[in-house]
Amino acid sequence: MNWNLDEAVLYYKKQGAPSDQNAVISLLREVQQENGGSIPRYVLAPIAQGLGTKESLLLAIVRRIPSLRLADTHCLELCSGPNCGRHTALADLAESLFRGKGVTIRYVPCMRMCAKGPNLRWDGRLYHKADEALLRSFLAQL
Ligand code: FES
Repeated sequence: MNWNLDEAVLYYKKQGAPSDQNAVISLLREVQQENGGSIPRYVLAPIAQGLGTKESLLLAIVRRIPSLRLADTHCLELCSGPNCGRHTALADLAESLFRGKGVTIRYVPCMRMCAKGPNLRWDGRLYHKADEALLRSFLAQL
């Protein structure tokens, strides 16, 4: 079974997070392990929302625990399914705009919303009808 952030958050919430900081730390360790050894900054907001706490609390815990590492990178996931994958100019533009700027670009299978494509996710948030203006708005956030 694949690891799922929402399920992990729910599990640790049942274990007492966010009141029990050990449960929060265990959750963050698991998130770190599932993300190749560091915690992507963009996952803190959905974790905080799922636990019913503030992102700043999670950030403080990450900074206080030496074994936890925060990755200040952004993640762009481009749908490479049969519809969205035809928009090669958009993918080429993404590669040129974000190369060397701390953005991880991933090509993922069909997001199953083909009629709304091209689809992409920026830091976990889904966007439809992606275009150059959208990519440039992400660039402006860096
Ligand atoms: S091809 Fe992109 S959502 Fe299906």
